[in-house]
Amino acid sequence: RTLTIGLIPADGIGREVIPAARRVLEALPGAVMPARLRFVDLDAGFEHFQKHGVALPEETLAALKSDCDGALFGAVSSPSHKVAGYSSPIVGLRKQMDLYANVRPVVSGAAATASGERRAIDMLIIRENTECLYVKQEEQHDGPGGKYAVAKRVISERASRRAGEMAFAMALQRDAMRRQLPEAERAWKGRPKVTVVHKSNVLSVTDGLWRETVRGVHAGNAAYASGVDVEEQLVDSMVYRMFREPEAFDVVVAPNMYGDIISDGAAALVGSLGLVPSANVGDSFVVGEPVHGSAPDIAGRNIANPIAAIRSAAMLLERLGGDAAALAIYRAVDKVLADGRALTPDLGGAATTTDVTDAVCAQL
Ligand code: NAI
Ligand code: MG
Repeated sequence: RTLTIGLIPADGIGREVIPAARRVLEALPGAVMPARLRFVDLDAGFEHFQKHGVALPEETLAALKSDCDGALFGAVSSPSHKVAGYSSPIVGLRKQMDLYANVRPVVSGAAATASGERRAIDMLIIRENTECLYVKQEEQHDGPGGKYAVAKRVISERASRRAGEMAFAMALQRDAMRRQLPEAERAWKGRPKVTVVHKSNVLSVTDGLWRETVRGVHAGNAAYASGVDVEEQLVDSMVYRMFREPEAFDVVVAPNMYGDIISDGAAALVGSLGLVPSANVGDSFVVGEPVHGSAPDIAGRNIANPIAAIRSAAMLLERLGGDAAALAIYRAVDKVLADGRALTPDLGGAATTTDVTDAVCAQL
């Protein structure tokens, strides 16, 4: 069997960290691989738009749809002013490939909490990625008291159900992966748990439908009902608890905007942006993507931290049936971080992108 991975470095440090992630994928020992890997280089991004007038070329989309099992995306530079004809290729990609959930792990062997203690965090945030306030249906009106603006918030049963489905399935998959680790290396030691985030005490119709639907997914599936615990958290107290006791969460599932805010906040718990991976996931495709942007301030100098991209590659493998390969990457990265000799400047070190990539490959 062969898995075909599309590589879309796009802009800035994307062109440095995606090749680094590819090297790590190529260094994986055959024994942990679910299949042989094949790579296809694909274009997209703002620089491509400036040269060719299109940010997400048709050929790239066609290759992803017909030829690839999944993809790795680097980062795009988005102009701060409005540029006619330009729209973000990653946003287009999510829509075109129906990548309806954004999945972000927040992992730290030892993160400082508000109280100054250091605790293990191993949380996975699943953000519904197609609706909520981000349907961008806003209107401004003139009223008797001056202007007023209205935004529409859409919550559907279908989108809530598939986000919930993904949360419970991933809670079980994470549990199975953790069991492959020695007890001492497991940050989360309890039964799998899903925390459903909402604000249905105020938004009882929209968030009420979200909450009911996600709970319905749990109740309606025997494996979920017996194997996964479920709890609810109002979004405001979610933020409070996440900073006070981040170790209390396993899988967290949230509507689009709450998920956006929670996941950026959670990234602050674990340090540099250069460490935080994500995956855009649908039923039939997955795109791994580091959370950071194109970092023009450090691009082209071989000092970008490749770990977010490397971890995103592992998330991609996890979705493609490569749990053992993904686990090997996560553990290799953890060892390099714990060892502390190969750290890029964002982590206080003096190593290059190449040094860190070499160190991860050596741990494999
Ligand atoms: P950024 O994430 O590119 O950079 C923020 C800061 O973090 C910079 O100081 C940068 O040097 C540092 N940084 C980011 N990734 C790093 C890494 N791997 N290793 C070491 N340091 C790292 O965000 P910024 O500066 O706000 O945006 C730059 C460009 O990226 C903009 O055009 C923005 O629109 C775009 N962007 C794209 C995203 C995406 O592709 N998903 C996400 C965020 C921003
Ligand atoms: Mg965000």
